Amino acid sequence: MKALVYHGAGNKAWEEKPKPVILKPTDAIVKILKTTICGTDLHIMKGDLPEVADGRIIGHEGVGIVEETGSAVSNYKVGDHVIISCVTSCGKCENCKKGMYSHCADGGWILGYMIDGTQAEYVRIPHADNSLYPIPAGSDEEALVMLSDILPTGFECGVLNGQVKPGDTIAIIGAGPVGMAALLTSQFYTPAEIIVIDQDDNRLAVAKTFGATHIINSASENAVEQVMALTNGKGVDTAIEAVGLAATFELCEEIVAAGGHIANIGVHGKSATLHLETLWSKNITITTRLVDTVTTPMLFKTVISKKIEPKKLITHRFRLDQVIEAYDTFGNAAKEKALKVILTNE
Ligand SMILES: NC(=O)c1ccc[n+]([C@@H]2O[C@H](COP(=O)([O-])OP(=O)(O)OC[C@H]3O[C@@H](n4cnc5c(N)ncnc54)[C@H](O)[C@@H]3O)[C@@H](O)[C@H]2O)c1
Ligand SMILES: [Zn+2]
Ligand SMILES: [Zn+2]
Repeated sequence: MKALVYHGAGNKAWEEKPKPVILKPTDAIVKILKTTICGTDLHIMKGDLPEVADGRIIGHEGVGIVEETGSAVSNYKVGDHVIISCVTSCGKCENCKKGMYSHCADGGWILGYMIDGTQAEYVRIPHADNSLYPIPAGSDEEALVMLSDILPTGFECGVLNGQVKPGDTIAIIGAGPVGMAALLTSQFYTPAEIIVIDQDDNRLAVAKTFGATHIINSASENAVEQVMALTNGKGVDTAIEAVGLAATFELCEEIVAAGGHIANIGVHGKSATLHLETLWSKNITITTRLVDTVTTPMLFKTVISKKIEPKKLITHRFRLDQVIEAYDTFGNAAKEKALKVILTNE
């Protein structure tokens, strides 16, 4: 089969790889129908996650058809259409029982990271019973790709950890697909003001159509001054970091209100400075989280009922064998006016 393979920072190739096989009775082999590229994949390609091995197939999102099941898989059979969760979980270990699938004793985020991923014609999914979600016949499968990662990530790491409440003023730093997912799902809780900050005017304009009440381009404006002007000098109740840079985390530290929350989502390759000299007395909470995907079944219902329409995040479509071109498009999002790219295995 063909797959997108990582060969160290800055190097990737679409090349021949062996088709995956069942290694454990709890595995399933899934034929990819649709997959996509995540900001985290860009971090991997940049070399921010040097633990990724040369030769690894990248990708942790997608929908597909079950091709083969191990003898212990009971929830799925050959031919079932499924959503692949970015997080693999056994559902049985201590952390899984706490709902912390991201730290499953035999899983967590491993797909397209520690084991081969979904930017390929086929993928092996360990603990298939707990790591796949069924797709009812007739569903819009493109929209459901957004449930593999970005929707649960924006919601769990940003909105839930940030404790967004009715009437709050929140800021989302980063208007990529993950920031947009936080923007969409924050509105379950009716915050009064949603300030979205990015450096990409196109993405900021899209954020407005998705419910942002204010947008700030931090490349051309002073974001701290703007946020303070919008909040009567108080700052925001919740600052959601959805970029993964020291500068944007430190921006959150500057704009959080007394008693507020900083909810980090971004994958960070470098350290950020914690300004305790200003924050020690501000009663703030800082949270970090690897997405657990425990809210996927709930979010699935909101997508099916069109309470949220993540399909609107899709800007570009490619064939799976055009994945290198798709990386160029997603990696040059401002120029290409790109948000989520969909790759179809035809
Ligand atoms: N915690 C988790 O479990 C988890 C899961 C998925 C993704 N992530 C992370 O979430 C982050 C966002 O993912 P994405 O797919 O939306 O990525 P993305 O690269 O598409 O989006 C990042 C956005 O940040 C903006 N940006 C870059 N530098 C900026 C700056 N200095 N100031 C303001 N904005 C700036 C970019 O214009 C872009 O719109 C990434 O760091 C990704 O690795 C974390
Ligand atoms: Zn991801
Ligand atoms: Zn587990």
